[in-house]
Amino acid sequence: MPEYSKTILITGGAGFIGSHVVRLFVTKYPQYHIVNLDALTYAGNLANLKDIEASPNYSFERGDITDEARMTALFAQYTFDGVIHLAAESHVDRSIMDPLAFVRTNVLGTANLLQTASTAWKNNLQEKLFYHVSTDEVYGSLGDTGFFTEETPYDPRSPYSASKASSDHFVMAWYHTYGLPVILSNCSNNYGSNHFPEKLIPLMINNIINSKPLPVYGKGANVRDWLYVEDHARAIDTIFHKGKTGEKYNIGGFNEWKNIDIVYLLCGMMDKKLGRPAGTSAELITFVKDRAGHDLRYAIDATRLNKELGWTPSLQFEEGLEKTVDWYLSHQDWVREVTSGDYQNYYKEQYSKR
Ligand code: NAD
Ligand code: DAU
Repeated sequence: MPEYSKTILITGGAGFIGSHVVRLFVTKYPQYHIVNLDALTYAGNLANLKDIEASPNYSFERGDITDEARMTALFAQYTFDGVIHLAAESHVDRSIMDPLAFVRTNVLGTANLLQTASTAWKNNLQEKLFYHVSTDEVYGSLGDTGFFTEETPYDPRSPYSASKASSDHFVMAWYHTYGLPVILSNCSNNYGSNHFPEKLIPLMINNIINSKPLPVYGKGANVRDWLYVEDHARAIDTIFHKGKTGEKYNIGGFNEWKNIDIVYLLCGMMDKKLGRPAGTSAELITFVKDRAGHDLRYAIDATRLNKELGWTPSLQFEEGLEKTVDWYLSHQDWVREVTSGDYQNYYKEQYSKR
């Protein structure tokens, strides 16, 4: 094995955001050894990393972050300098169906990883870094105005956001109690390639392609702040290398959209690309029963990250959305693979009674 300047563990690297983070680190830092630990749940897919899987500075390890013995063995096998922790159950609707799965992975899994890292690193803790990737949903729901800052009190409202909020608190507990060097970031909604089609944008793209109903929850008036996934990966890179230990950073796109407006934008864009008469896809829009406890609006103030570390989003939403749609149109094999089998059962359970 060549000499590497750092060995970094990335958890959840086979998922949507994780795969973009792994790709960025493997290609930008050939001097680092990147170890991707992933349980390969329904959301994890090694096909997301086909282009870099043969890179000499990349290793994949299958494992579950809740498995104490497996995590201890992993930290004995590799001498990690840092952890970037993304592994999680990530879909709000699934957290409403099966909340305890979110407690297990997001709360117990994160605490287990913190404990394993601080035990393995006890002799040189100060040289290490545990970076926890979290969400803006921990802050709760905004009204029509205002933004989430790093000082906004936590007010999670779904089992998913409560489990992420809890994991954030455990990360800070390990910092204050055991002196583990940690950094946290809380990001808004991501979109881009390799996004599992249970989430709004890839689900709508897939349904438009297949001329299936487009299920908009409630009146479609809920607002999200969208960020291109590669910009999130760049922010994680910036924060991992330049962020201050013990700090948290908000990451956002300064890009608020009502759900219904995104669906109309996609319909118009895709009618053109698919050679359908204007208005064809919009006829598929179906307003369905609202999500329970549906947060009205998220909006991130990412001033700290911009002013202190110099990060800004690189893409305009329309440009990013067009790249995303093109990716799905040219990766129908990927979509077919992830929507076969279990996805069909999930889809039926989630949408047939709405
Ligand atoms: P994802 O669901 O696409 O991927 C999660 C990955 O974690 C999958 O590869 C899965 O196999 C793996 N995983 C799940 N349980 C595991 C376990 N017990 N052990 C090991 N691996 C496990 O999620 P994502 O959208 O890429 O989100 C990644 C992280 O970023 C999450 O922590 C999420 O909370 C956070 N986040 C997501 C968004 C977003 O818009 N998607 C925004 C902000 C923050
Ligand atoms: O804000 C960051 C969070 O964004 C991440 O932490 C989560 O992991 C990620 O899943 C995402 O959560 P949301 O609940 O905001 O994303 P989702 O794509 O599920 O939904 C976006 C909006 O679209 C939300 O208001 C619900 C609505 N929606 C969603 C689906 C799947 C619909 O109207 N119809 C749908 O079928």
